[in-house]
Amino acid sequence: MQERLRERSKSKALRELQVNTSRIDFCSNDYLGFSRSPVLKQLISNELKRYPDYPNGSTGSRLISGNDRYTEQLEQEIAGLHEAQSGLLFNSGYDANIGLFSAILQRGDTVITDELIHASIIDGIRLSHANRFTFRHNDLTHLEDKLKAAKGNIFIAVESIYSMDGDEAPLLEIAQLAEKYQAALIVDEAHATGILGPNSCGLVQQYGLSKRIFARVVTFGKAMGVHGAIVLGSDVLKSYLINFARSFIYTTAAPFYTHAAIKAAYRLLREENLQDVLQQKIRLFKENIRANISLIPSRSAIQSIIIGGNAQTRHTALRLQEAGFDVRAILHPTVPEGKERLRICLHLFNSDTEIISLTQAINELI
Ligand SMILES: Cc1ncc(COP(=O)(O)O)c(C=O)c1O
Repeated sequence: MQERLRERSKSKALRELQVNTSRIDFCSNDYLGFSRSPVLKQLISNELKRYPDYPNGSTGSRLISGNDRYTEQLEQEIAGLHEAQSGLLFNSGYDANIGLFSAILQRGDTVITDELIHASIIDGIRLSHANRFTFRHNDLTHLEDKLKAAKGNIFIAVESIYSMDGDEAPLLEIAQLAEKYQAALIVDEAHATGILGPNSCGLVQQYGLSKRIFARVVTFGKAMGVHGAIVLGSDVLKSYLINFARSFIYTTAAPFYTHAAIKAAYRLLREENLQDVLQQKIRLFKENIRANISLIPSRSAIQSIIIGGNAQTRHTALRLQEAGFDVRAILHPTVPEGKERLRICLHLFNSDTEIISLTQAINELI
């Protein structure tokens, strides 16, 4: 262990926990400020008061003692909002991806993923016996090459908004390719949920693909400000996951208050139209970053600036932190070598002055 930790340290990639500071938040996934919203807190509290006898814990797996009508109704409600037939809640997005991919992929199947796909999907695939191929980021020709060579049941996995680059997958074109090669398309909407698409429900709905894809993963720990995730798809998929998704079966269900919080977060999302204001903040940031800084093109709340090299990227982030901005370096091995970056997340609660000051600091440093 010590040897491996020393190697990490030597390559300036040692991860260490930090307690949240008073710096200005430009790193959390709390894009809409829901996690700190007193309005959401009140909505959650009201929801809890409607069920004064709610249990403190769920007491077991959903398949044993941890299920109730409230959870089932919540799943149906969320599925309806996302134009899906069914939904199955998981305790986190990580659990959802692990459970979904390890359960559906069988020996001899092929899964083709974008090279930047999230670690939770990679881990889910590793737990299966399927063949995994990657295609170059958002490269449709490369994806088609892989589809031509694929065997068994074919699956494609992409993120609608990529977590580290903040850019989007060409979902329509990917859906067309999936149909051409009879592949099942799975879209992880973790970073689009709450910020893009009709009713902020994500890009699958924006492109009218709800009925054309096999499954979607929606998470609640980012823009929704709470915790948990849901896999959306057909009734058959739901029933299959209840039977075969080990991260669903062999774990204690989330407690009532988690589900109440998810319900309240959806309510707040429906009541407020926050997309336009967030887009203004994003535009302000992009307009004020010097043109020759290598900002990855993105219309999402994630704006990444490639610095290159662990030491240099970490150093730049530290300087920004010293100036009062909570900006984090994303280092190799989380991202490919040479693509180490500052991952800047913009939030509704970042004032225009804070955003402009951050861009000035970045322009001076880089
Ligand atoms: C694209 C993507 N999928 C899944 C997850 C996992 O979600 P959660 O944080 O709810 O476990 C994340 C977050 O880290 C993510 O960025």
